[in-house]
Amino acid sequence: MSDIYAEIKADHDRHRALMKTIAGTEGASDARREAWREFYYDIKSHAAAEEETFYSKLMEKTWGQDAARHSVEEHAEMDDLLDALNEMDMSSSGWLNKFHTLQHDYTHHMDEEEDEIFTRARKVIDDSQVGAYGDRFRARKAKEKDLVDAKQKDHLED
Ligand SMILES: [Fe+2]
Ligand SMILES: [Fe+2]
Repeated sequence: MSDIYAEIKADHDRHRALMKTIAGTEGASDARREAWREFYYDIKSHAAAEEETFYSKLMEKTWGQDAARHSVEEHAEMDDLLDALNEMDMSSSGWLNKFHTLQHDYTHHMDEEEDEIFTRARKVIDDSQVGAYGDRFRARKAKEKDLVDAKQKDHLED
């Protein structure tokens, strides 16, 4: 059993570190390519798993809905940025500029989740359930990781 908050926080810390690595790489280097690939699949599956196991629960309560909707909207905005970056030439100056926008926005998103959203969630998710939620989050994320490419293809065909 692993605590849902610890699971999410551990992912966030990994994402913060990966973004720092990516920002420190140059052009279309192997180092940038590899760190980007790891980040791209991890953040997408993380966000999808959050929505399925975490935000869906928060949405059950009226006072949790607005905050949850706000976060899910931010996921959609970040998804657009991620896809745009994935399509762009990594060696262009525009790539790093766009990446810095993503880094800024996503850092704000994670800070808000760990702060405001966790506080709200603790009122909705019973203490005895945080382990089960953590397990569900982790299992869902593993499944979502395999679906990232398929979802992206569906999105393009829509
Ligand atoms: Fe999120
Ligand atoms: Fe998150």
